[in-house]
Amino acid sequence: MAAKSSSPEVSRRVEELREEIRDHDHRYYVLDQPIISDAAYDKLSRELQELEAAHPELRTPDSPTQRVGGAPAPGFAKVVHRRPMLSLANVFDEGELEDFDAGLRRRLDLGEGQPIRYTCEPKFDGLAVELIYEEGRFVQGSTRGDGEVGEDVTGNLRTIRSVPLRLHGTAPARLEVRGEVVMFKRDFAALNRRQEEAGEKVFANPRNAAAGSLRQLDPKITASRPLTFFAYEVGESTEAFACHEEKLRRLAALGFKESGAWRIASGVEELKSYWKSILEQRHELPYEVDGVVVKVDDEDLRARLGQVSKSPRWAVAYKFPPEEETTRVEKIDVQVGRTGVLTPVAHLVPVRVGGVMVARATLHNEDELRRKDVRVGDRVVVRRAGDVIPEVVKVVVEVRTGREEPFEFPKTCPACGAEVTREVLEEDESGKSVKLAAAWRCTNSACPAQLKERLRHFVSRRAMDIEGLGNELVEQLVEKGHVRDFADIYRLGAEDWSNLDRVVGEETYKIGPKVGQKLADGVERSKHVPLRRFYNALGIRGVNEAFAAVLAKRYPAVDALVRADKAELELLPGVGPTRASWIRQFFDREENREVIRHLLEVGVEPQPEAAVQTGGAFAGKTVVLTGTLAAFSRDQAKAEIERRGGKVSGSVSKKTDLVVAGADAGSKRKKAQELGVAVVDEAGFVEMLGG
Ligand code: IVH
Repeated sequence: MAAKSSSPEVSRRVEELREEIRDHDHRYYVLDQPIISDAAYDKLSRELQELEAAHPELRTPDSPTQRVGGAPAPGFAKVVHRRPMLSLANVFDEGELEDFDAGLRRRLDLGEGQPIRYTCEPKFDGLAVELIYEEGRFVQGSTRGDGEVGEDVTGNLRTIRSVPLRLHGTAPARLEVRGEVVMFKRDFAALNRRQEEAGEKVFANPRNAAAGSLRQLDPKITASRPLTFFAYEVGESTEAFACHEEKLRRLAALGFKESGAWRIASGVEELKSYWKSILEQRHELPYEVDGVVVKVDDEDLRARLGQVSKSPRWAVAYKFPPEEETTRVEKIDVQVGRTGVLTPVAHLVPVRVGGVMVARATLHNEDELRRKDVRVGDRVVVRRAGDVIPEVVKVVVEVRTGREEPFEFPKTCPACGAEVTREVLEEDESGKSVKLAAAWRCTNSACPAQLKERLRHFVSRRAMDIEGLGNELVEQLVEKGHVRDFADIYRLGAEDWSNLDRVVGEETYKIGPKVGQKLADGVERSKHVPLRRFYNALGIRGVNEAFAAVLAKRYPAVDALVRADKAELELLPGVGPTRASWIRQFFDREENREVIRHLLEVGVEPQPEAAVQTGGAFAGKTVVLTGTLAAFSRDQAKAEIERRGGKVSGSVSKKTDLVVAGADAGSKRKKAQELGVAVVDEAGFVEMLGG
């Protein structure tokens, strides 16, 4: 019926362009491997649009130009799923997973040596949808709804580039594809930034953002939201599959996007390691996952197993510990950071989040506190993702009683009473760029709260690395007036250290000569830290550990850095006018120059980077020392490693690169072997030093 008034050449060209654009869309949105530039793509796209505009009779609904076509709908029509979209039963630990496997084996009458073959996939945290294809063309898409009846969101699904409008190759006559619509984490962050700037609603998490975007009556809005579709199941189909693996491969061949993270697991032990590996990658994955889905691979076995109520017996979701929980705000207070920034903090009824107890969560700054309107007594959602500081995501306003109390942000520094000024931060204290936010800052550089924070940073592992000098002692040093200036630490003798207090339960003891001596030794050793750590230790605004290394390379002599002018600093990699002026401002203050002078006077002698080999055997490596070495003390061994660019850490984790095991090495060596971390003995170590 096409092209009555258009020439065969035009319709051929139109088809050719569609074919080509579809291929590029697939490469870009499904495979993440584009082969042409955006400009070249736009050119093809424009040519097709122009031809279709000139020959409207050639327009077809599956043309790549028609992704955003439809007018806003008055509401969503209902769609009855031909086969119900089931939900999944959950298991939360290894024991429950073992029970699941054992239950299936019993039903299937399997013996000891006959493990079940499973397919395992990430459990995407998004919105389940079903896409219907007839003769390879996308004809209808719907949400899961209650599993029986969903909503028709065809127009919105068409705007998602990873939803093929036409399938590749020879497609089945009819195919129902099921999968998840998700928003990638980086797209979510960008969307929220845009929403905030436009004064629009921000979303609590990527799943809500995906759901909110897909359930828009105007497909143009959905089209402006970056969504991705992952296919993971087939509903009714005119093509049969023997197993799930085959299904996943076929879906990819038909043009669907897959995560690349699914695996085959034989038996329950392999399921456990799959779960662990996805849990470990969780924060590196571009989309959110809340567990893994375990599915019996073989379709005949699935049919034999059947379903109970609304879930199949042959599959289960093995959940991750949740990263969000709700709890109650007991108190709000304001903490003063080392550069004087005032941060409101919510004190919570302790709750387990992501496997860790959380009792406090940041509210970032006054604006965030007001925007979220967090009050004392509120029930709130707290979130802890990876190593990030726990934060209050939102208030559960539905359960407010009216007795919650708004928090008055202080007008002066809560630690010293000094005046506070408000300024816009573009980077946080470690130099990481943050959302533009106005922060209050204490103006008193002698503020004890700031001093404590600065000192805590100064002695920390990535700075002067003074062993055993924890928060409790730092607080005493400031409160008892022992330390007003970093150099004061070096003026304390073993006896002063011995007289510090240690609190055990209700009792307070002196820490005593043995621990006192250890601390004094640690202080003494710290005099020779690598220069980069010294620069980091000073607590210059905008200078973090990584940037301190850049400074150390460029300024092997401290006084050269002290004198460096702004223009010169701006030549350093990653330095703009703001960071350069922060560094300059730091050294312009007489009190800071004095601190450095005092440190050098008391014998601090940072080791210039020239002494640290960058290409050495230990460059960039994290090493753990354990057991006794015959030829080196711990400190000597540590110094040798550090001189060769390595870092020494106290405990073995998967981040450890090497364990040096001397005589009598015990649990650390064992742990390294369990984690597959390389282990060398003293002879091997000596060889590495020589090499
Ligand atoms: S399979 C019967 N696979 O989990 C099998 N579901 O509780 C049903 N989900 O509504 C679906 N990732 O939204 C399957 N890889 C995956 C999944 C997945 C996320 C969601 C889906 C479904 C819910 C079931």
